[in-house]
Amino acid sequence: MSNSQPIGFFDSGVGGTSIWKEVIQLLPMENSIYLADSKNAPYGEKSKKEIIDLSVKNTDKLLDMGCKIIVVACNTATTNAIKWLRANYDFPFIGIEPAIKPAALLSKTKSIGILATKGTLSSDLFAKTSELYSKDIEITEVVGHGLVKLIEEGNLESLEMNALLIDLVQPFLKKEIDCLVLGCSHYPYLLPQLKNILPKEVAIIDSGEAVAKQTRNVLKELDLLNLSIETPNHLLYTNSDKEVLANLAHTSNINAQIFEAEF
Ligand code: DGL
Repeated sequence: MSNSQPIGFFDSGVGGTSIWKEVIQLLPMENSIYLADSKNAPYGEKSKKEIIDLSVKNTDKLLDMGCKIIVVACNTATTNAIKWLRANYDFPFIGIEPAIKPAALLSKTKSIGILATKGTLSSDLFAKTSELYSKDIEITEVVGHGLVKLIEEGNLESLEMNALLIDLVQPFLKKEIDCLVLGCSHYPYLLPQLKNILPKEVAIIDSGEAVAKQTRNVLKELDLLNLSIETPNHLLYTNSDKEVLANLAHTSNINAQIFEAEF
């Protein structure tokens, strides 16, 4: 394994670029490859077996492309498949899980909300994490039905998105949460819209920064940080239309090349 090999990322679509962006901002010398499996989005409505099969497909592709580590930039794939991946590949994986712990520590009202996919909220891994905190804190769970589809269509600021969000946040408003956990890597792209409709006391937390730090720590431990001063390459692949991926990637100010491909 060489230090200049890329960091691999995969997600059910364009959302994991919110994680990719944080990792590359923290580790600007690193090369990267990102797979947006938009053709198969949303993962959140699929069975555990289907999510594992898709995660294996994406992992094999990233390994073929010579990645040195894989960031599973998807909560649904992490909570349903990372245990399987770690058991079956002798390879480093970084996962992303809803940031329940930081929210629980930050909350003053002891009432927090989580917005995530059905696949994440019904997973064993999520049940274990939430059980750890639910003794002291009330956790209101809402499935973000329909959000990923609209984000994948590039419909971030539409009236339809606004109406859907207003509907989805009602249980949070009723429970007077003071922290909202975004438990899906697509949702950080909804931050401006959510800030508009939630009371300003509500802190909105995602896992991007934590994943970036964890990636840096693991690469350091494995002595795999890229120390080369060559300009890094960032190759972003989608198996669907590349326009939405390109638009989101460009908001990062990272110079990335976008490709359509079969995988
Ligand atoms: N972006 C993904 C996540 O973090 C999956 C969304 C989906 O495909 O349902 O959960």
